[in-house]
Amino acid sequence: MNLKNKKILLIVGGGISAYKSLDLIRLLQRKSCSIKVILTKTGKKFVTSLSISSLSKSRVFEDTFGEKNNGKMDHIALSRWADAILVLPSTANFISKLSRGSADDLATTVILASDKETFLVPAMNVRMWEHKATQKNLNTLFNYGYKFIGPQDGEMACGEYGKGKMSSPRQIISYLENFFKQKDYFKKKNIRATVTTGPTREYIDPVRYISNESSGKQGYEIALELSRLGVKTTLISGPTNINYSNEIKVKKIVSGKQMFNEIKKTLPTDIAVCTAAVSDFKPLMKNKQKLKKKVNLDKIQLEQNPDILEFLGKNNRNKPKLLVGFSAETENIIKNSIEKMHEKHCDIIVANDVSSKETGFNVDFNEVTIIENNGEIQKIKKSSKKFIAAIIAKKIINSFLDIKKRLN
Ligand code: PMT
Repeated sequence: MNLKNKKILLIVGGGISAYKSLDLIRLLQRKSCSIKVILTKTGKKFVTSLSISSLSKSRVFEDTFGEKNNGKMDHIALSRWADAILVLPSTANFISKLSRGSADDLATTVILASDKETFLVPAMNVRMWEHKATQKNLNTLFNYGYKFIGPQDGEMACGEYGKGKMSSPRQIISYLENFFKQKDYFKKKNIRATVTTGPTREYIDPVRYISNESSGKQGYEIALELSRLGVKTTLISGPTNINYSNEIKVKKIVSGKQMFNEIKKTLPTDIAVCTAAVSDFKPLMKNKQKLKKKVNLDKIQLEQNPDILEFLGKNNRNKPKLLVGFSAETENIIKNSIEKMHEKHCDIIVANDVSSKETGFNVDFNEVTIIENNGEIQKIKKSSKKFIAAIIAKKIINSFLDIKKRLN
């Protein structure tokens, strides 16, 4: 009963498959969900408000500024109420509006005002689905972190055949059950993850330091995604400009040594993900006063920082059940990363080519290869760090469940 008591906000869009929303409402009710429904203006051309309210046994929401709202802001109240938002059918026009960030009706305004998991269930003619404009919009939405259920291949209402057929209500229920099953499992078992992110600063004197260009974005997105999948997540972050969400616990540190000390405090942890670009070297000592320009440079001696990932991998007593490393390389990326994975005893290593200005350090995009120690390799082409984080988090969840199965 993974959907029991879940609050689902269903947005019914304007397409012929809207009639299936009635079936879905009944199925969701059988699973003991609470349901609220927004019916869009075009959705009303395919199903009536009366049939939805009769089935859902509650008021149907239609207007952002309706008279029935009694001065309440439905777009805020509904988005805060929901555990998940489901848009069915997600038409080409709705997808286009969402990708532009439109907020010209209650449905789009609610989604824009929400940070809840939003599932889009596309349905449209195969040519509309394949059109470059739609594919571009879908890509934007993927990168914003929306999840898609379907579409399927099949015969459409217009009589044509191909991709664009809406997933059936049963397929939708099965997808949602699986999603909440995993989420509830991680929550119930209190599974914990620690993610490191950002650069470290190794001070030479009060004003000068050794550091790098890491913005902390990639690790932050992974931490957020893990937390949304039900994992209790702590982010240990070097200095960044990120405005952290309070969904995750954040420990701010400055130096590699501080990051090392913080991670030791989180042990034992179930999952550790080392995304941070820890400075490999640090000055042997920090000068109390600002060094003079003409200082004898031999005075600045360097030593190695502790290798946090290696420490975790070789920590026999407290090794995380799943250890994920990152690997920033400019040449022989896969070979070097595999070597790193073995040296540091990781279960997974995420390799990125940091020679490009468009991906990697301090930009919104990345291009990575996920390498598992069982030999599996998955390449993800240039995408937003949010999108990449969603794939990595999913991989982490599935690998963790596999390890648990093996141990039991
Ligand atoms: O922060 P962003 O701007 O979003 O950019 C993301 C990123 C490019 C920084 C990220 O995707 C990335 O590649 N992170 C790893 C950076 C790195 O230090 O790679 P490395 O190959 O030098 O280190 C290998 C692994 O050892 C990493 O998991 C690193 O966290 C870890 N390490 C390294 C040195 C050290 N002293 N302690 C460590 O734990």
